[in-house]
Amino acid sequence: MSSGIKGEEVGPHLFHIRPPPSSLSASNFRVKECHNFLGNSLPLEFRPSFSAEGINSRTTAVLGVLDILHCCDCELYNSKIKSVERLKKLKSEHGKVQLGNITVDMVLGGMRGMTGLLWETSLLDAEEGIRFRNLSIPECQKKLPAAKPGGEPLPEGLLWLLLTGKVPNKEQVDALSKELRSRATVPDHVYKAIDALPVSAHPMTQFAMGVMALQVKKSQNPRTEDSSAFRYWEPTYEDSLSLIAQLPIVAAYVYRRIYKNGQVIPKDDSLDYGGNFAHMLGFDSPDMKELMRLYVTIHTDHEGGNVSAHTGHLVASALSDPYLSFAAALNGLAGPLHGLANQEVLLWIKSVVEECGENITTDQLKDYVWKTLNSGKVVPGFGHGVLRNTDPRYLCQREFALKHLPDDPLFQLVSKLFEVVPPILTELGKVKNPWPNVDAHSGVLLNHYGLTEARYYTVLFGVSRSIGICSQLIWDRALGLPLERPKSVTMEWLENYCKKSA
Ligand SMILES: CC(C)(COP(=O)(O)OP(=O)(O)OC[C@H]1O[C@@H](n2cnc3c(N)ncnc32)[C@H](O)[C@@H]1OP(=O)(O)O)[C@@H](O)C(=O)NCCC(=O)NCCS
Repeated sequence: MSSGIKGEEVGPHLFHIRPPPSSLSASNFRVKECHNFLGNSLPLEFRPSFSAEGINSRTTAVLGVLDILHCCDCELYNSKIKSVERLKKLKSEHGKVQLGNITVDMVLGGMRGMTGLLWETSLLDAEEGIRFRNLSIPECQKKLPAAKPGGEPLPEGLLWLLLTGKVPNKEQVDALSKELRSRATVPDHVYKAIDALPVSAHPMTQFAMGVMALQVKKSQNPRTEDSSAFRYWEPTYEDSLSLIAQLPIVAAYVYRRIYKNGQVIPKDDSLDYGGNFAHMLGFDSPDMKELMRLYVTIHTDHEGGNVSAHTGHLVASALSDPYLSFAAALNGLAGPLHGLANQEVLLWIKSVVEECGENITTDQLKDYVWKTLNSGKVVPGFGHGVLRNTDPRYLCQREFALKHLPDDPLFQLVSKLFEVVPPILTELGKVKNPWPNVDAHSGVLLNHYGLTEARYYTVLFGVSRSIGICSQLIWDRALGLPLERPKSVTMEWLENYCKKSA
């Protein structure tokens, strides 16, 4: 029997061909674990055969180079096998079960309340808010590894959680950080593509342009290489990790280009993902790094139906790669009713201060809110398409502010808005959720640490969103989800249908 397996046989995600980590010798490494994994988990067609000799030589040659990150791949892989079975069972046993009635209101109302997407990485409850793989934000803050004791969770930990459904330990998160660092290089043509735009172009336009340019280096459409659905998730996984790794560099480049005369700050490989992002933007205070870790963690994912997530998922369903899919998602995020709201909030808050001063009274603030509404505008940072309560992402940022910047005048204004705005929106009578959302808070925190350029804020949101969207894209392909193609109808069709069913 030959050991006869090559990295390519089961895909690059299983064999990270790198120098062996010094702490792992070939002999102490989890030969059994890998044997079990490779021998038992793979579908028959991909199962290798082993001999003791084979294992030993492979341990040296291949298994020895797997480091702890391998666990992420294994978890993901094992979980994929089980999930594909679950999906098949769901389809065959319950495919005809109705999930609800579609009404004309839903068709005309942006598909609100229509259950129409499979999204494994997170689930939103209207009252409680988001759960990432069944963990609430406070639970993530408690359970996910942090850069320092009692600190904010590391976004890499959330990535691991979203990918595998399991809470990683610190060692695993450090390995994932390292893996991302190893992929964090951006080709020159990406900077040139961004530089071709006027520096006055919106930061989101420059950022999305950078993402499109990153795609250029990408090679082939995998379908032309291998049409096996089983393998399809592998290039998605590879691209996704690389894209997530590259984004902070592109985002920081856009920031430094627009606001800091193009003086770029190189990455610092001693730092974690969030800490390094803050560093490349030009913010090295420990508190700003903590804020960035929290910010990136909580903005990652908000189930599948929001504009950016749904767009990414839709575009990827055409088997467009993660770069193309995520660039499309970013363009959705750039809308003022979605991601751009964080920019609008800070600009609006600053306009309040400009007009009424920092020591604005409650009555003055109420007048200002009414003035905004009466001019036909929305109050940015309040309301939500699904949530019907205060967003837990708002609450954890409020906790952060209470801990680190309780006396900041803009934070105090945000706190006052928390009291003043909901009763007014309720009084309007039509707003389904008068409570603040994530965007109502993020700007004042960033502003406090010197990141004052509100127009840039949605780019930060975009970097974070890649973690959620890409995690799900990997699952979309792992589960072999099909091309999305809902049915549309004309008004005439609806009118006739309603007449007939009256
Ligand atoms: C998020 C948002 C787009 C959700 O829209 P939605 O699902 O249509 O919300 P609703 O069903 O509650 O909207 C019902 C009505 O209330 C209005 N409304 C909702 N939120 C409002 C707000 N913050 N200020 C004023 N009016 C608001 C809507 O514009 C709509 O008015 P219309 O019937 O005259 O068109 C909306 O709440 C909004 O515009 N908020 C401000 C922007 C924002 O913070 N976006 C970030 C979201 S995370």
